[in-house]
Amino acid sequence: MNKALNILVIGSGGREHAIVKKCIDSPLCNRVIAAPGNGGMAESIDCFPVPADAIEELVTLAQKESIDFVIVGPEVPLCLGIVDALKAVNIPAYGPTQEAAQLESSKSFCKDFFQRHNIPTAKYATFDAVPPALEYLDANPAPIVVKASGLAAGKGVIIAQTTEEAKEAVQSMLIDKSFGTSGAQIVIEEFLEGEEVSIHAIVSNGSFLCLSPSQDHKRIGEKDTGLNTGGMGAYAPTSVMTEDLQDIINSTILIPTIKGLEADGIPYNGTLYAGLMLTQNGPKILEYNVRFGDPETQVMFPLVEDDLIALLYASATNQSLPDSIKLSSDKCMTVVIASQGYPGDYPKGDLISFPSELPEKTDIIHAGTALKEGKIYSNGGRVLSVTSQDETISKAKEKIYSVCKAIDYDNKYYRRDIAHREIKRLGK
Ligand code: AMP
Ligand code: GLY
Repeated sequence: MNKALNILVIGSGGREHAIVKKCIDSPLCNRVIAAPGNGGMAESIDCFPVPADAIEELVTLAQKESIDFVIVGPEVPLCLGIVDALKAVNIPAYGPTQEAAQLESSKSFCKDFFQRHNIPTAKYATFDAVPPALEYLDANPAPIVVKASGLAAGKGVIIAQTTEEAKEAVQSMLIDKSFGTSGAQIVIEEFLEGEEVSIHAIVSNGSFLCLSPSQDHKRIGEKDTGLNTGGMGAYAPTSVMTEDLQDIINSTILIPTIKGLEADGIPYNGTLYAGLMLTQNGPKILEYNVRFGDPETQVMFPLVEDDLIALLYASATNQSLPDSIKLSSDKCMTVVIASQGYPGDYPKGDLISFPSELPEKTDIIHAGTALKEGKIYSNGGRVLSVTSQDETISKAKEKIYSVCKAIDYDNKYYRRDIAHREIKRLGK
């Protein structure tokens, strides 16, 4: 490549702030801008107030700002076809096409794909009418899982402990339309037991590279209690992932997925984020996301020692990826600081004060924040995430919680037990 790139990052969360930071550090980057961005990004780059789902406006912005490369953070623009729209005007973008993004936008498409290509997953059936769904529940006892097929921001999954609860979930999705059109079709699937792990692969032209395996903490409350959220903290790499296990996941899940999509005429470039359950019968896939996880990005990216932006650009331009990726031997952890009330209603507009210094290899990443007259205010449910890396998770954890304590705003809330399983497992 002979010229440095002007890069547009689409999105406004912690994930996108972490992407922007990698762009700023990349020798390939001439200028980086964001749409719509957040307060933390606005402190160092130009942010344009174009929403992440306004596809035509985003394409116009990219053209106007002479953008050479777009990195798409969230799933919504991918599922609306932003990569196809940018390709039509010759701007390479990192992420799958709209057709390939169905892996995330339609759970029924995804489950049918798994079945067609023999990829290990929970046993399931798909319904768009109540009576056959209820019949299926009578034949398949609880615990059982009821899912809205379409996008539901991580909230469309009901783990029903009783058949009664499952039947209520079916009624609520199909009759009361509790998830709108996203729940017009539902998937009912077997409840799987085991440890969960997230694998993120960057995919390009049939080749792929995995980032560090991570574990997210989806529940709002400590000890994994309360409502599901977008994610309250994460760490990587997780010691539940061994080299042997990674080989099994590659050969039974990732490679069959990439080859299967190719065989179905839907070649895949971008992120494959596999949500896996490590069951007694081997790893099974719960779902695919077609973008990087948030907050997993905040722990995976700092561990990448190669130029990550070069890898994302290679994928956007369909080049084969190198054979390996250089990852740090450190452990990395992040804790999300939210607004009291999240994932329900929460206040916005709290003035945030920050510590004047940070410990070594520690960073504050912004999510729901706004910059006004040089000051940072809360502006979302997940507000900040504090990330640190070190030789052990415990050392990183100590640094993170000292920063979480020092950050101050009225409605601050965070979990104090991120990485509890890993620390219990390793004793450090
Ligand atoms: P999903 O959006 O499909 O990843 O589901 C959200 C969360 O629900 C997952 O991270 C799991 O904790 C849980 N979950 C989803 N499907 C299953 C299943 N079949 N068995 C057990 N837990 C599940
Ligand atoms: N942290 C979960 C997700 O990004 O879907």
